[in-house]
Amino acid sequence: MIRYYGKLAGYGKAVPEKIITNQELAERIDTSDEWITERTGIKERHVVREDEHCSELATEASRRAMDKAGITAEEVDLIIVATSSPDYLTPPVSSQVQHNLGANNAGAFVMVVGCTGFVYALVTADQFIRSGQYRNIIVVGVEVTSRNVDWNDRNTCVLFGDGAAAVVLQRTETETGLITHHLGSDGSGFEHIIQVAGGTRNSVTHKSLDEGLQFLQMNGREVFKFASVIMGQALKKVVDEAGYTIDEIDLFIPHQANARIIEFAAKQAGLPAEKVFVNVDKYGNTSAASVPIAIAEAFEQNRLKEGDLLALVAFGSGLTWGSCLFRV
Ligand code: UT7
Repeated sequence: MIRYYGKLAGYGKAVPEKIITNQELAERIDTSDEWITERTGIKERHVVREDEHCSELATEASRRAMDKAGITAEEVDLIIVATSSPDYLTPPVSSQVQHNLGANNAGAFVMVVGCTGFVYALVTADQFIRSGQYRNIIVVGVEVTSRNVDWNDRNTCVLFGDGAAAVVLQRTETETGLITHHLGSDGSGFEHIIQVAGGTRNSVTHKSLDEGLQFLQMNGREVFKFASVIMGQALKKVVDEAGYTIDEIDLFIPHQANARIIEFAAKQAGLPAEKVFVNVDKYGNTSAASVPIAIAEAFEQNRLKEGDLLALVAFGSGLTWGSCLFRV
């Protein structure tokens, strides 16, 4: 029987040019570069201009990934866009991306799984490849969270940034790609990262706008506690299940939310700093885009190459988490 595998055939990122530094934030709200750096490791974040949008960042990142993979728009079978900050609640932004790319043979859908979205989407794409159904799938992580935060709320606005990155997963008969994965969810923590208004439970009204309920709210301390435990656990789970040891991992790419959480998880797992990819200092938390942006940068910096054993772990709203071991 023929077995199919999903090879990481291309990658690309698209990050807005505009940068906001901690210093600039400190001039506008009651915060400081020292506080943000010490508590999070973030120094600056990229944010969209008024005329830049989620669909465009996702399209640009996808184009770059397609170029690297050497495929045409007609060859794309499926586009999965992981995001919680689409252009519109309806239609799905995935169809805008499909149209912009001219990927006229592709199906397209959105996955809304907070910062864990890209890992969920990558695992989902791999199932379509393994079944033999599709040859080329674009998986995009994209966020424009700067439009969802209250820029007067220091609990959230200092943490997030905008950006997009995509990979092309391509069918091959050579054994490679996803080895093991673990997807988790604990909805009892649903209120810890929430946009209260804008869904159907609390639609946008004058009252909800006056109360600022359209903005992202976060219980940072609770998320911190959850993330510190779940990152290490989720990593260990996929390594154990695959029958590997931590030492065999060439590069660990964790969700870039907070440098302290990353350090804690790496230490718990026994991973040396040189095997851990960190770029949260330059981008802040780009939510579903954070893992793929880090993948793209790891390739650009020659920290990732064909044959490497890559471990990905993400966590986010839901609460959710996901991890995987991947042969590049
Ligand atoms: O992608 C998934 C989503 N999110 C996360 O992963 C976030 C996880 N959580 C965190 O990263 C951290 O909890 C934060 C960075 C959000 C906060 O760090 P912390 O060490 O947990 O601080 P804290 O919440 O315990 O707050 C300490 C103090 C508070 O003052 P009081 O109540 O002790 O007087 C805050 O009001 O720091 C204050 N504070 C700030 N001060 C200056 C909160 N935000 C700021 C700020 N600048 N930007």
